[in-house]
Amino acid sequence: LPEDLFRNQGIERKNSMGANLANDNELRVLAEQLNAAFENAGKHGWRAAPLVPGAMVTTPAANVANPADRRQIVGQWQPADAGAVEKALQNAVAAQPAWDRTPAASRATILEYAADLLQARMPGFMALCVKEAGKTIPDSVAEVREAVDFLRYYAAQARASFGAPEKLPGPTGESNELQLHGRGVFVCISPWNFPLAIFLGQVGAALAAGNSVIAKPAEQTNLIGHAAVKLLHEAGVPENVLQFVPGDGAIVGAALTRDPRVAGVAFTGSTDTARAINRALAGRESGPIATLIAETGGQNAFIADSSALPEQLVKDAIGSAFTSAGQRCSAARVLFVQDDIADKVMTMLAGAMDELRIGDPALLSTDVGPVIDDDALKILEDHAARMAAEARLIRQAPTSEAASHGSFFAPRAWELQSLDQLHREVFGPALHVIRWKAEQLDQVIDAINATGYGLTLGVHSRIDETIERIAARVKVGNVYVNRNQIGAVVGVQPFGGQGLSGTGPKAGGPHYLPRFATEKTVTVNT
Ligand code: NAD
Ligand code: ALA
Repeated sequence: LPEDLFRNQGIERKNSMGANLANDNELRVLAEQLNAAFENAGKHGWRAAPLVPGAMVTTPAANVANPADRRQIVGQWQPADAGAVEKALQNAVAAQPAWDRTPAASRATILEYAADLLQARMPGFMALCVKEAGKTIPDSVAEVREAVDFLRYYAAQARASFGAPEKLPGPTGESNELQLHGRGVFVCISPWNFPLAIFLGQVGAALAAGNSVIAKPAEQTNLIGHAAVKLLHEAGVPENVLQFVPGDGAIVGAALTRDPRVAGVAFTGSTDTARAINRALAGRESGPIATLIAETGGQNAFIADSSALPEQLVKDAIGSAFTSAGQRCSAARVLFVQDDIADKVMTMLAGAMDELRIGDPALLSTDVGPVIDDDALKILEDHAARMAAEARLIRQAPTSEAASHGSFFAPRAWELQSLDQLHREVFGPALHVIRWKAEQLDQVIDAINATGYGLTLGVHSRIDETIERIAARVKVGNVYVNRNQIGAVVGVQPFGGQGLSGTGPKAGGPHYLPRFATEKTVTVNT
């Protein structure tokens, strides 16, 4: 691992909201620098357009509104048209062989330089995260830091595994070696909830392995994706090797994934979209059998037994459910709490929710910002309406006047009778609590497994046997014990799920980069 990875992640700064947070002093300094970045952006505005050499794009530009205040237009973006998609594919095919021949150490050096640039320009990128994605200041710090970490981690992996061919035994008198190469053209399709970290994680890995890349950001966060690609170009990635192709997923994303020139797709987003991409790739009648790396949704549970410390449990449940306005695939959606402590925990949960500050994410005092847009808000409001009929409301956190012009959903917690009452992932600040009895532990775990999702699980218990039993039986990718269940640290807590939650390999883990590569064995009769 690169030495500065841990320094950047600030492990000593770990707190209830994740490991990538800055301490209070750093946050204050960054908040001041942020104000300067907001002012600068106010003067110049942000813009995003396709970055495809040789393409003339004439599609009309659309406004980008601040999710915290829809009256505020923070920039404009222009989608790619069919001509730009075609040109991007031609460029990517032509550029890939030379990039693959570029020594892995040189590719790594470029990515490391990009990481340095990103770190140096943190306030500008944080400003984008706040204004385009509605992220709070602490979340924005974590976002930029995680992006830096991904670039450094994959650069280090490329140096270690792609630098020189692996020499293999020669029992037959021949020399044998195993080489790793890029697969070809990789399409990277990312979500809006980690618009910089996941975007650059996918792109950085695909580039490190020797692929040319077409990056398609989520429709909601084009400005951030555009700025990230410009930064990689500045660091030295050739413009034909990394292209930025924004647009509607069902149009631009679908056109890219059904194209036979594409050798692989790295996708993070909903399970339904992963299925659509899988079908598109499978339906191609020519071209390679493409690789799909899909990281998708979750229905994440948190199990607490009667030995749990209620104060810590409530703090960690709130952090896991409501940080980032619950818009994390890793977020806790269902808290299973043993009946002996259930009433006390729910009373404390309600009290703690009263203290949450919901409002403008540009203020350091804000705990919970807006959800990404009005479509997301509508889904959450529909869910709340259903819960009103079917569940007991434990608490709805108070909202402020500042929230009246944005896409805000006050965090809510309901008590349910059964997990069957949740039909799909609820992507926002919504927590559901279910009581269980001591003899029902295996049933609880089996119910969690039966959802088919398998991303994160939180456990609060002081009993080693219980912890081991749960960890052994549950089918999820990341188990967190006696802490919160969000904020996986690159290189330390490889992140990703199973079943409906994704194909693996885990992001920020040792097996990720090889999936972007093809292997070639060279045998020479000496
Ligand atoms: P989404 O599936 O709606 O969109 C993700 C991306 O796919 C966007 O870029 C979109 O434009 C594109 N897309 C949509 N339809 C497409 C199609 N037919 N072909 C190709 N591309 C298409 O997801 P979202 O709403 O942006 O993100 C939230 C979801 O992402 C949640 O389900 C969350 O759990 C999941 N997520 C998972 C992880 C993880 O690591 N497992 C991380 C973050 C988010
Ligand atoms: N990697 C992100 C987390 O762990 C999604 O919260």
